[in-house]
Amino acid sequence: MASPLRVLVTGAAGQIGYSLVLQIAKGDVFGKETPIVLVLLDIPPMAAVLEGVQFELTDCALANLTGVEAVTNEKDAFTNIDYAFLVGAMPRKEGMERKDLLAANVRIFKSQGAALAEFAKPTTKVIVVGNPANTNAFICAKYAAGKIPARNFSAMTRLDHNRASAQVAIKSGVTVGNVKNVIIWGNHSSTQFPDVSHAKVNKNGSEVDAVSAVGDSAWLQSGFISVRGVTVQKRGAVIIERRKLSSAMSAAKAACDHIHDWYKGTPAGSFVSMAVPSDGSYGIPEGLIFSFPVTISNGEWKIVQGLELNDFAKEKIAVTTKELLEERDEALAACGESKQ
Ligand SMILES: NC(=O)c1ccc[n+]([C@@H]2O[C@H](COP(=O)([O-])OP(=O)(O)OC[C@H]3O[C@@H](n4cnc5c(N)ncnc54)[C@H](O)[C@@H]3O)[C@@H](O)[C@H]2O)c1
Repeated sequence: MASPLRVLVTGAAGQIGYSLVLQIAKGDVFGKETPIVLVLLDIPPMAAVLEGVQFELTDCALANLTGVEAVTNEKDAFTNIDYAFLVGAMPRKEGMERKDLLAANVRIFKSQGAALAEFAKPTTKVIVVGNPANTNAFICAKYAAGKIPARNFSAMTRLDHNRASAQVAIKSGVTVGNVKNVIIWGNHSSTQFPDVSHAKVNKNGSEVDAVSAVGDSAWLQSGFISVRGVTVQKRGAVIIERRKLSSAMSAAKAACDHIHDWYKGTPAGSFVSMAVPSDGSYGIPEGLIFSFPVTISNGEWKIVQGLELNDFAKEKIAVTTKELLEERDEALAACGESKQ
């Protein structure tokens, strides 16, 4: 048997954690044949809850789950891990602006970045789910620099990507497996730009562009992006309003999709949305953790190049870039660093 992958989930006593750990443990991410040790981190007051989750995972009797460790300190959490799902954060509550979250969360991700540098493998790959996800990932990468390359850090926009794909599928009268190459540009926030202008729909066996499959350009430029939060940009706020809790099951599934594709690769001709450090593509300032279309092979992502952007798209991308630059500067200030 190959030596098991050590997979860390932070915030594992929380609601996303509860869905996520089972999906990882039963092979949805790394495959059913890959042995896994799950490391569950939460804060000390949640130790008993964490232990309950650990017991339940044991009771799931999963063949390839070779260990479950429940821990409440960063050293035990980050030592020798291969993958980190950084979910633990202060979640957004109804009516709370994401900017209020930033200051509270930056401290957590600075500390975890330093812990990654000190204890994790230099090859560790990281997905940040905890909000504000892009900026938390930026801070985490900054404090892990020197040990772990920035390109091993990412933030999750896959939930937005999945939401957008599902809406296109419904409008086109197909199942979601027949939709590909939707793009989420920018920040995981209400400024994100869900873009279907390069997406494809397989309708009755032939591939057509999503705009003609949907057959409603006005909806694509307004309702699809955000009408009272029914569709993509503000869907998270609507879920909070209805459930009184933020998206958990769908967020966990999206985190699994993100790492699954990073681990296994994307199929030929398909791309997915992933927030990764910009290399300057599409004029996005270098280093900003920005959601781009990416293809993945051999565990390495590549930003899809050469997609044409019309004026509408350029305008939307400029708005989300501006927000990310502001968040970055606020986060750096909260860490006592000067602006970039
Ligand atoms: N990127 C996305 O698409 C997306 C989608 C949904 C939710 N989220 C975010 O994910 C995060 C978690 O959501 P949730 O619903 O599971 O929240 P939750 O409150 O149910 O769970 C969060 C858990 O994190 C723990 N935690 C807090 N600080 C920690 C630390 N320093 N180290 C380890 N654990 C810590 C808490 O004790 C809690 O158990 C929130 O920030 C939420 O906004 C992101």
